[in-house]
Order: sequence, then structure tokens, then C-alpha cells
Amino acid sequence: MDMVDLRSDTVTRPTPQMRSAMAEAVVGDDVYGEDPTVNALEDRVAAMLGHEAGLFVPSGSLGNQLGVRLLVPPGAELLCDQLAHVVRAELGGHGVLGGITTRTWAAPRGKLDPDVVMAMAAPDAGPYLVSTAAIAVEDTHNFGGGTVQDIADMRRLRSFADETGIALHLDGARLWNSHAVTGVELDAIGGLFETVTVCLSKGLGAPVGSVLVSSADRIARARVWRKRYGAGMRQVGILAAGGMYALDHHLDGLVADHDRARRLAAGIAEVRPDVVDPGEVETNIVVLDLAGGPTAAELASGARDRGVAVSILGPHTARLVTHRDVDDGDIDRAIDTLVSLLSR
Ligand SMILES: Cc1ncc(COP(=O)(O)O)c(C=O)c1O
Repeated sequence: MDMVDLRSDTVTRPTPQMRSAMAEAVVGDDVYGEDPTVNALEDRVAAMLGHEAGLFVPSGSLGNQLGVRLLVPPGAELLCDQLAHVVRAELGGHGVLGGITTRTWAAPRGKLDPDVVMAMAAPDAGPYLVSTAAIAVEDTHNFGGGTVQDIADMRRLRSFADETGIALHLDGARLWNSHAVTGVELDAIGGLFETVTVCLSKGLGAPVGSVLVSSADRIARARVWRKRYGAGMRQVGILAAGGMYALDHHLDGLVADHDRARRLAAGIAEVRPDVVDPGEVETNIVVLDLAGGPTAAELASGARDRGVAVSILGPHTARLVTHRDVDDGDIDRAIDTLVSLLSR
């Protein structure tokens, strides 16, 4: 039985066409800046996001790590929400390797509320307290349930940043999904932030790769740090070609992923409206609140036995993510399986 794998949109496999684009990529030594495919991808993504320069990195976590490092000196703080990937799922890398501290705000469903953030920011708190150097925003918000940030809220944060000198980082791992929903231009969002990370390896279906964008000067410094972290790569245009192919061919497919996520949530809500509100599903992520049972581990194990894989986010929280490698039939199977497990 084929597994319907809803754990994450990172599980997608490159298509034969993507593989052939990768096989044919023109490559060079990227540490010398000589890989034409990497250079083209970096330039393309930077332009799409309204920035001067880009840096190809192996993961979203490294993109965030470098982006934040450029903005927050050791001993200063990054503000982000309690569910942010940078603080929950990057294994303390920003503190361990960047020497920074974080302070978090509560954000129901990961939604940015600029008033809350502005009230806690402390741009010049020294010498006894930690000063805020940067604020991180996540769009779409993963653990918040694929929620989309409001451009008006991000603009208000930008004005505040301009007034206070605090910098802004955007974890845009799934910014493509946000754009697919709102139609707000990517450069209109990206241009509000000093540094932006986007991932090619999630809904876009490339096997590896993220891009950090910023000013040319900051990206030159990030290039040094990337090498220092051991992530200077050589003929990596083979991977960048997968990203190029994804940008050419896979952006449009995100809308279908979102429709399937809503249908999945609606199917579950028919029997268990306490578990998910389909009206809250904005993109490709469905978070299940299992406070009324079963536990997330019980659901995940029962579903796996029946050929459906889901993620456990907490004792009573599970996550389902739609992506290019699940079709309508897979969603029907997932609904049947989850409904039967949740109806008991
Ligand atoms: C919002 C967000 N940011 C960053 C990352 C990190 O990406 P990677 O797994 O490539 O390190 C993820 C991964 O799922 C994510 O969901």
C-alpha cells in the first residue's frame, strides 16, 4: 500500500522533468562564485523579492541563521512569536552559534499583531537590559497552521522599524503559499524586510535548497559566514537547477494544495468540529487540536497502520500538510482514515 504522506511538504520527490533539468545544469565552483546556475537562481530570487542579492543555502534553517546573524549582534535580542520556527525548530542554533537571545510574544495561530510586538520591543535598553536588534516574522506560519500574515500589519511593523532602528527578518519558507492566496506581490512583501529566507524544498518540490536575500553588502558578509559554517558548496548548480525548475513550473500548483487542505479539514470537521475549523485553513497546512482525544501519538500510529502519515506537533496537536505528491484520491483516503480514527 502506498503511504499518503501528509507529514510535511518537504517529502516531495523531484519529478522526472526536474531531475533532467538538474542533470543538464551548467555548473562551476560556487565557492569561487563561478556556478552560473547558482548565480542565476540567486539573482532571480533576489529580484523576485525586491532585494539586491541572494545566497543559495542548503536549508531554510541556515538561511534564517545567516539572516538573523546579519541583523543581531551577540548579546542582543531577536523578538519572535512563541510558535516561530526560528525559536521552536532550529534547535537553538541562533543562540548556540550566533550568541543572541530571544524574547517571544504569544501569537494565536501565528498571526502577527504589530501592537503586541511594538509594546515589547526595547531598541535601546542597555546597559542593564538586553536591547532588541531585530524582529522575525513568519509567513506563512508553519506551526500556526499555514496562516498568512496581513500585509497591512507587516507595513505597520516596517514603519515602527524605521522609527526605532530595529531590523526585520522574514522567515518566508512558504512565502510562495502566502502570495498564491493573497496575490500580494512577492517584492512588496520582501521589500519590507532587511533579510528574507525562502525555501525551494517545500511546496515547490525541489529536493534541496533555500535562498537568503538582502542587500549586496549583507549577502557578501553572509557568504563568508556560510563558508565558515561549512556550507560553501561546489558544483551545486545541479541543486539550484531543481530550484529554477520549481520556480518555472511549480508555483501555480500551490493553489491546488490549498484547496485539498481545505477539503481535508472539512471532511474531518464533519465528524469532529472540535478538532479543526476548515474556515481557518488558509494554505496547505491543517493543524488538528486533539484535546478531546485521541492523543496525537495514537492518531499518528493508527493512521500510519492504515497508510496515512501525519506529524505530531505536541501531545494533543497533529499536523497534516498537502503538497504536490498527494492528489485528490489520496485526500479521499486520508479523510476516510482520519474520520474513522476520530469517530471512535
Ligand atoms: C517556517 C519554516 N522556516 C524554516 C524552516 C526550515 O527549513 P529547513 O527544513 O530547510 O531547514 C521550515 C521547515 O519546515 C519552516 O517550516
